[in-house]
Amino acid sequence: MRITGQTRLAGVTGDPVAHSLSPLMMSHWIAASGLDAAYLPFPVAPTDFSDFVRGLAKSPSVSGLNVTLPHKEAALALADKATPAALAIGAANLLTFRGGEIHADNTDADGFLAALEPAEPDYGNAIALVLGAGGAARALVHALLTSGCATILLSNRTRSRADAIADEIAPEAEIIDWQDRDEALARADLVVNATSLGLKGGSELELDWSAARKGAIAFDSVYVPLRTGFLRGAEEAGLQAIDGLDMLIGQARPSFAAFFGCDAPHDPPVRPVLLDALGGRS
Ligand code: ATR
Repeated sequence: MRITGQTRLAGVTGDPVAHSLSPLMMSHWIAASGLDAAYLPFPVAPTDFSDFVRGLAKSPSVSGLNVTLPHKEAALALADKATPAALAIGAANLLTFRGGEIHADNTDADGFLAALEPAEPDYGNAIALVLGAGGAARALVHALLTSGCATILLSNRTRSRADAIADEIAPEAEIIDWQDRDEALARADLVVNATSLGLKGGSELELDWSAARKGAIAFDSVYVPLRTGFLRGAEEAGLQAIDGLDMLIGQARPSFAAFFGCDAPHDPPVRPVLLDALGGRS
């Protein structure tokens, strides 16, 4: 990598950030595009977050930052402007610096829709079941709403959090008690795991796949490990299984374009680079 006096800088900030695949992904695209640019990880404690962002935003050579846990809500709060997606989701994963102003966006919803694209969901006639009601679920529900999904079923262990998402952004969503999720699964054309269940070292999300619709789409937001119990169960029951890595790539593409003013190249593909990196973790 060559750094010059004109190198454009962007990065990802979180606490911690060492696990992030974004630097690998972005530097792969920077090299493939031949850009004079760099993308770095910035671990920053919550107490320093706002000073750090405001300081970086003062330099014209810094294009912006991706933001990961636990700073996504704080990122939205400190921004001068925010997109409808960031406002609806209540969190930002992308900050861009424009002439001294900080703009907040959230590309997680776009990433989710990009991951599902190859399966060609018929959103206008689809019943989607979203399991979970944390930050990830909120982004996925927002994506389903913007894609015109006909019916959204929302189920979470703690029902009040699902009620809160419905109240705030999806008043037409049907709330399903957690113990009734298998019955909802039988109705669904699209099943989404937005819980943290299935993460390496944790417990699996338990579902009765025997009732699920064959040919339905199953998506897991968890990608460590890549083949979760959820995706294995879905595949064995004849559903189309889509892993969370494609959403990670899909949310990074609009960030790359916002930082560097050009689309992330499709060749050489970035997925094998990430699979290689995950090989040591999954
Ligand atoms: P994120 O912002 O990444 O979505 P989060 O806000 O911690 O993370 O949400 C984690 C989700 O996984 C929640 O929906 C959580 O359910 P609760 O709201 O009831 O806590 C869900 N989850 C985590 N552990 C779970 C478990 N053992 N059983 C069922 N759901 C679980």
